[in-house]
Amino acid sequence: MKAVTWQGPRKVSVETVPDPTIQQPNDAIIEITSTAICGSDLHLYEVMGPFMTPGDIVGHESMGQVVEAGPQTHLSQGDRVVVPFQIACGDCFFCHQGLQTQCETTQVTDQGSGAALFGYSTLYGAVPGGQAEYLRVPHADYGPITVADELPDHRYLFLSDVLPTAWQAVAYTNRSPGDSVAVLGLGPIGQFSARIAKHLGMTVYAIDPVPERRAMAARHGVLVFDHGDDSVAAIKDATQGRGPDAVIDAVGMEAHGDNQSALARFAQRSVQLLPDKLGQPVMDKLGMDRLAALYTGIDLVRRGGTLSLSGVYGGQASPLPMLTLFDKQIQVTMGQANVKRWVEDILPLVEDASDPLGVDDFVTHRLPLDEAPGAYEMFQKKEDGCIKVVLDPAGVKA
Ligand SMILES: NC(=O)c1ccc[n+]([C@@H]2O[C@H](COP(=O)([O-])OP(=O)(O)OC[C@H]3O[C@@H](n4cnc5c(N)ncnc54)[C@H](O)[C@@H]3O)[C@@H](O)[C@H]2O)c1
Ligand SMILES: [Zn+2]
Ligand SMILES: [Zn+2]
Repeated sequence: MKAVTWQGPRKVSVETVPDPTIQQPNDAIIEITSTAICGSDLHLYEVMGPFMTPGDIVGHESMGQVVEAGPQTHLSQGDRVVVPFQIACGDCFFCHQGLQTQCETTQVTDQGSGAALFGYSTLYGAVPGGQAEYLRVPHADYGPITVADELPDHRYLFLSDVLPTAWQAVAYTNRSPGDSVAVLGLGPIGQFSARIAKHLGMTVYAIDPVPERRAMAARHGVLVFDHGDDSVAAIKDATQGRGPDAVIDAVGMEAHGDNQSALARFAQRSVQLLPDKLGQPVMDKLGMDRLAALYTGIDLVRRGGTLSLSGVYGGQASPLPMLTLFDKQIQVTMGQANVKRWVEDILPLVEDASDPLGVDDFVTHRLPLDEAPGAYEMFQKKEDGCIKVVLDPAGVKA
């Protein structure tokens, strides 16, 4: 089959690799009909290089049709399913609490990581990902979300990651209708965090440097601002000078900005130049986060407010302004999204004919799988109005 593989920093290629096969009685094999590129894939593309091996199949936002189901699954050939980005058992201490990203059955204990993830480096189990013609789904007795046949893929596909991540980001702000929320970053995660907060009755402000991303959010009732000091002042002005009740950081460690970034960029470049064995500890111990968005969030949120981090941060030596966090009494929440925890809340909304979350206004590019290398570059550089790319292994260009 054809699959998108990691080959080195900023280099992916489409290669022919062996088809996956059933290895456990609770595995299923899915023929992929749609698979998206995520902001998290850009971390693999750039900073997570030391944890990748050339040839690794990437991708964790996939859906398709079951072609083979192990005897311990409840799936049948032809079922249409969405595959959550994390692999969870559904029946352990953490899964029972709705903390599927901490699943005790699939935790990658030798790396000290939480649940295994599709296509996401040795840190998360080195599981082959879904940007491919076929995907082996472990724990398919629990993970796959079976959906109906009528609606197009793009209505369901984002149940794999973007929608539950955005939903959790909003839920973790612990806010109510009428409260104010500022979303930092209007990539895919920020777009839906903003729309979900709006849908739940909050006043939503958002900051992003990219004009077409602001324009998309504005179409959905979000009050948008360019990135820079003025935007923070403007949002504070609009919230009685206090700052919003909550801030959602939907940027993560690929942030553009000034704070710390010279140092972080230096560390990041140096790690890429080191041999893998040396690079891993540098990434682990020094940390290479670019913390610009996080610092903005700490500054912007009102005293006693919530800072909900959905952007991914790595590294263990990120300097944090503890005095400010403590003095402002900021509640910080974070983590990978627990996909199945939120599916029941979201599914009726994506199936609603009136499309309350505006899922029809989201995908900017649908491209054949072969075009993945150019698509990664376009998404990273935010060229051609690119906000979300869906790859189509059947190769039909929209
Ligand atoms: N928690 C989870 O489970 C989970 C799941 C998926 C993605 N993520 C993470 O969410 C983050 C966003 O993902 P995405 O797919 O939306 O990616 P993206 O890279 O497209 O979005 C990031 C956006 O932030 C903007 N930005 C950069 N610096 C900024 C700054 N200083 N202030 C304001 N905006 C700034 C960029 O212009 C861009 O639009 C990534 O870190 C990704 O890894 C987390
Ligand atoms: Zn993703
Ligand atoms: Zn579990």
